[in-house]
Amino acid sequence: MYAVIGGTGLAELDGLEVINRHQMVTPWGEPSAPIVEARLEGKVVLFLARHGQPHRFPPHRVNYRANLWALRDLGATSIIAVNAVGGIDPAMGPTHINIPDQLIDYSHGRAGTYFEDDLEHVTHIDFSYPYDEKLREELIRHTSALTQNFSGKGVYGCTQGPRLETVAEIRRMSQDGCHIVGMTGMPEAALAREIDLAYACIALVVNPAAGVSDQVITMDEINEAIENGMGMVKRIVRSLIVA
Ligand code: HPA
Repeated sequence: MYAVIGGTGLAELDGLEVINRHQMVTPWGEPSAPIVEARLEGKVVLFLARHGQPHRFPPHRVNYRANLWALRDLGATSIIAVNAVGGIDPAMGPTHINIPDQLIDYSHGRAGTYFEDDLEHVTHIDFSYPYDEKLREELIRHTSALTQNFSGKGVYGCTQGPRLETVAEIRRMSQDGCHIVGMTGMPEAALAREIDLAYACIALVVNPAAGVSDQVITMDEINEAIENGMGMVKRIVRSLIVA
């Protein structure tokens, strides 16, 4: 079963016929919000608002461990993560959609593993390819059927936030090979791998990252890009789920 983790600008999916709202408690605490179990054209899907409902947890305060644990407990096997991001690659302007194939984690101090205490042995997951290739391919297939304004690979740089980056930080990230920058891609992707959930990300660019354009970044431009671009992301996710 698919689960969708909605980020900034995606607090709900349209057209869902709600079956249940699950208020979950996990060994890692409570997820960001009740998990919506719903039917979409006959397919059952789970939906979770990453930042809570209303939007109240900043990226470093999201309980990523509880979120993924609860989704798995409810039967999710594949996670589609929706993320709003800044574009580092100048070719990726507002409303561009990127389906990353790699990531670099610049965040710190987040609870980033299930393998911490009471271990019989230390566990290191393989994370060479952080996203599930099959799920990525499905996302790419459904995206390419609906828009040309997308790229099917890229490196997602995950910063700590909640502040945006400096121009020098983005320059460094660009030299590191990052194409997009967000604050919530990690530890989510790694936690999913730890508990064997297939995980892929569909990222909507909502602003040029710091210094990429000569303007400062405003919430107004971010909100405008979300308004203009999130409809397409929803259509893609819908198309994948009902296929
Ligand atoms: N930086 C980090 N995270 C973001 C940005 C950004 O420019 N835009 C949206 N999320």
